[in-house]
Amino acid sequence: MQADGKSTTTAVVLAAGLGTRMKSDLPKVMHRVAGRPMIGHVLANLETAGIDRTVVVVGDGMDALAAAVQPHPTAVQVDRLGTAHAVLAARDFIQAHPADDLLIVFGDTPLITAETLGAMLAARRSSARPGVVVLGFEPADPGPYGRLILDGDGALTSIVEARDATPAQLAVTLCNSGVMVIDGARALDWLDQITNDNAKGEYYLTDIVALARRDGAAAAVVTGDADEVLGVNSRADLSEAEAVAQRRLRARALEGGATLIDPDTVYLSWDTQLGRDVVIGPNVFFGPEVRIADNVEIRAFCHIEGATVASGTVIGPFARLRPGADLAEGVHIGNFVEIKAATLGAGSKANHLSYVGDSVVGAGVNIGAGTITCNYDGHVKSRTVIGDGAFIGSNTALVAPVSVGAGAIVGAGSAISKDVAAGALAVTRADQKEVTGWADRFNAKRRKEKQDRKKEG
Ligand code: UD1
Ligand code: CA
Repeated sequence: MQADGKSTTTAVVLAAGLGTRMKSDLPKVMHRVAGRPMIGHVLANLETAGIDRTVVVVGDGMDALAAAVQPHPTAVQVDRLGTAHAVLAARDFIQAHPADDLLIVFGDTPLITAETLGAMLAARRSSARPGVVVLGFEPADPGPYGRLILDGDGALTSIVEARDATPAQLAVTLCNSGVMVIDGARALDWLDQITNDNAKGEYYLTDIVALARRDGAAAAVVTGDADEVLGVNSRADLSEAEAVAQRRLRARALEGGATLIDPDTVYLSWDTQLGRDVVIGPNVFFGPEVRIADNVEIRAFCHIEGATVASGTVIGPFARLRPGADLAEGVHIGNFVEIKAATLGAGSKANHLSYVGDSVVGAGVNIGAGTITCNYDGHVKSRTVIGDGAFIGSNTALVAPVSVGAGAIVGAGSAISKDVAAGALAVTRADQKEVTGWADRFNAKRRKEKQDRKKEG
């Protein structure tokens, strides 16, 4: 207990599994759901649930994973001898931080909500004071899951792994999600008593229920939603988790006051921020770190990541905003326009077929169709600066580093490699030549040749 009488909780996240069925070089829990590694979702939910401290159990050599979970500490499980063995890999941390409750979650189960974790902690703190609280669920296909065995009074007596179950036990549909809250004062004692005398020869965390009961403690079940406890073991599971995450994010966007014309075709990131009265057309993809203000219209088929968009802006159809795109109020970005690491001032427009990269564009600028900022010389990237109210004619190449002053006009088809002064006209194309009557004479000659050939033939 803390001084104020509040219970304390230590969480252990099991993430040492190799995820062999993912067929990947990446640790399983580093695979992304809605743009964020699964382990990131788990840690964020623990934080929202108000867990006091968390330790992540990783496999030997999983240094990138250990770095990704910082500032949370890690414990290394060298041999993977089962879920109880994995929890015991964190023994030193658990002993160093005595807590009322020990919460065990799996790193490959990213969709559990903070509300469900809260319900489990509340059950553990209920007057019955169960020594173990298990999160159960009713999957469509109970197949490989551990079965929750209840007695005649509906109390949890044990968990039996599918491989070790009798036919009668296999008929049970209430299954173990893997999430558990254990009495912090007794957890290590119970874990130390677990043996590997079972079909898999592993130390099963699930055995803790029967051990706690034998020790006189009660065990309780909190039932969760099957969607929430979906464990990811394969790429197919990963795509299912993604689908669930997208459904949630779309619902959140709609509740927040955005219109999604065809929600099922809009892909959001865990951190996508949408204002009120945002209208999103079909087939729009949001990568991480996108902030869209109120009253923005995003038309069909846009790809947006790492972008900040102010209110009144219109984007697309078929536009691409890449990281560092920063659009002020009322900007218009049209079809086949790509913006990268560039700010556009209020009311500026790039409506057709352009690339604007590494640029600072002022307010009220018109960027004509086919304008390209040539920001890369094969070695380094350089900046383009365009002042307020400038007009860039169609099919202009702006060879960076270069600047165009406020109010300047660049003639269509120019390759601009020198700075243009404010208020000036710059044009680099060759002078136009005109030969009076040339086309008429040319066409007449060609027609006559054709007729002569016909007569001869
Ligand atoms: C486990 C449960 C099962 C439950 C299912 C829910 C046990 C014995 N069984 O089975 O009752 O229905 O989850 O999905 O607990 N891990 C380690 N080190 C190990 C073994 C596992 O870190 O030595 C980690 C894995 O990375 C994974 C989690 O623990 O995140 C679960 O392990 P897994 O082998 O997938 O357990 P299941 O057989 O699915
Ligand atoms: Ca599993």
